[in-house]
Formats: sequence, structure tokens, C-alpha cells
Amino acid sequence: RHRLLLDVDTGIDDAVALLYLLAAPGVSLEGITCTAGNVGARQVAANNLALLEMCGHAGVEVAIGSEVPLEVPLVTTEETHGDQGIGYAVLPPPRGRVSRRHAVDVWLEAVRCHPGQITGLVTGPLTNLALALRAEPELPMLLKGLVIMGGAFHHPGNTTPVAEWNIHVDPHAAKEVFAAYEGLPVEKLPVVCALETTERIECTPAHVDAMARAAGAGPELLDPADPPGTRSTSDNAVVACISDALRFYMEFHRLYDQGYIAHLHDLFAAMVATGEAGFEERLATVDVETASPLTFGQTVADTAGMWKRAPNARIVTGNDPAAVFELMVRRLSGLARM
Ligand code: BDR
Ligand code: CA
Repeated sequence: RHRLLLDVDTGIDDAVALLYLLAAPGVSLEGITCTAGNVGARQVAANNLALLEMCGHAGVEVAIGSEVPLEVPLVTTEETHGDQGIGYAVLPPPRGRVSRRHAVDVWLEAVRCHPGQITGLVTGPLTNLALALRAEPELPMLLKGLVIMGGAFHHPGNTTPVAEWNIHVDPHAAKEVFAAYEGLPVEKLPVVCALETTERIECTPAHVDAMARAAGAGPELLDPADPPGTRSTSDNAVVACISDALRFYMEFHRLYDQGYIAHLHDLFAAMVATGEAGFEERLATVDVETASPLTFGQTVADTAGMWKRAPNARIVTGNDPAAVFELMVRRLSGLARM
């Protein structure tokens, strides 16, 4: 059984990652904590509650953490993810409530109750994780492992020429997190899924179509010729939600010249966390730029020991997009059939 704690800023690809986790066999979600990023933390929580309810998992605790980054003002990105954070998907307002516990308490109580058993997965800015590490420096040893979606090492950024979004939103938090892991045992170091590998996960209309067909929900081709904002006609709620969410992301990517595709960064990180996605990795010492206006939020990796500092990260250097999509189709269609 894979026990997971998820910290998210849902977000279209966070939403797909969450749906995948609900569908993955043997995965037990011990809690979902919300951070501000793609949209504000309260909207993130509402999205998570609505997605859980759509899939019949209303029992999973959803807690809010920090609503702002550690030191810089919050910037959100509704142009990428839609006003509500899940593109054109419209879900019934959630009936469930946000937990009274703070995100940090959810993480600390879970890992203290089950030391060495829970894998952390962060697919948003690292604000909550940094706060949890301040409160409990033993957190890395109490977790089984940690997977982070964030950073860009040998790849152009997606927020500035050198910075990736999750790190750029709260670089001070990211810097603290990597500093806290320096010199810890390799199996405890965060597995870092950066843009080099996550931008290879290019979801196309054909993948959504395959998922819809496998769910018995009929073809769901997202035709680039459709007027922007065309909604799904599927009567399957899960298929319609995924299709409507991804259409927005595809229209966004088309504007930026990458074509009618959607980068499912967080889905890949989620598959790494469950152990379902194979990958290649390299040990590195990662640090984050927080001072320079030119390179603010840049992640820099020393893989050759030049800084004479101990490694603090396992950077993912290779992945298999075809396998990721094969699994996505299988898992999400399974969820839609339930
Ligand atoms: C990351 O930024 C967010 O917009 C996505 O959800 C993903 O976690 C990619 O840079
Ligand atoms: Ca995200």
C-alpha cells in the first residue's frame, strides 16, 4: 500500500494528477493540503473537494496551508488554468468543508503516526513544505520519500527564461527545502521532476479520446477547430471534467506556440510517487536564486561536486512519455467507469 500526502495548487494538471491518484491501485491518500499558486489556496481547496466528491472520495481530508509565499507577494496564473483553476470544467459546488487543521499539522501528525511509511508529493510551490520543515526538522526522516514537481535545470523556464512556475512563485521556500535535505541519506532525498522531463508529457486530443473510448464514454476529440471554450458533450462526469479542463490548457499552449497540447507536469510527478512511472535520475546539489532580479527563481544543480556540498536531490533525467499516457488512459478510464 502506498500512503501519500499530497500538497497541491490545483490547477489543471494537479487536478489530473489527483484523479490519477484516486484511480491508482493500492494508493491511500492520507490528506490533501492546499497551497497558493495557480490560484489562491481557498480556490485550490474548493477544487480538491469538488474533484473528490465527483469521484466518491469525499472522506479525504482537505486542509489549507499558507495562503501566501514566505517572502514575496502571491502571483497566480488564471490565464494558464482558468479563473477557477480547472479550465472550462464546471463542478457542482462542494458540500464538504475544508479541514480546521493547518496543512502543516496534517503533514506532521500523519508522519509522526506512521514514521517511514508516507511518501510526500508536492505539485505546487514549496511554501507548506518549507513551513513543515521549520516546524519539524526531522520531517525528511519521518517521510518514506518525497517527490517534487518543480525546477528547470537545462531547459528554458516556463515563467521567466530561467525559472519554472512552482519555484518562481516561492523561491525562498524552495531554497529552504533544498537546504534542509543537504547531506541526508539518498533514499530520503526529494525526487525532483523538473521541466526537462515534465514538458515531455505532451497530452494531445488523441489521448483524451483514447481515455473516453476506454471508459465507454464515446469519442471525446478536442478539435482544435472548435471555438474556444467548447464544452464536452459526454454524459460521463469524469470524462467531461478532464476534457473541459484540458481543452483550456491546450488552448493556452496553442497561444504560446507549443501547439494544441497540454503539459501534464504534475501527472508525471504523481506516477513517480506511486512507483508506476519508470525514470532515470541523477544525484545533485540544488540551490535556488532568490536575490538576482535577472535570474530570480532559477534552480541550479551541481552534479559534479563543484560546490563541495553534499547532494540534496535526485533529479529525474529521463522518462517514458508513451508509458505515462498508456497508464493515464488505463487509470482515468477506470475511474470514469466506476
Ligand atoms: C507547474 O506549474 C503549474 O502551473 C503546474 O500545475 C505545474 O505544477 C509547472 O511549471
Ligand atoms: Ca501544480
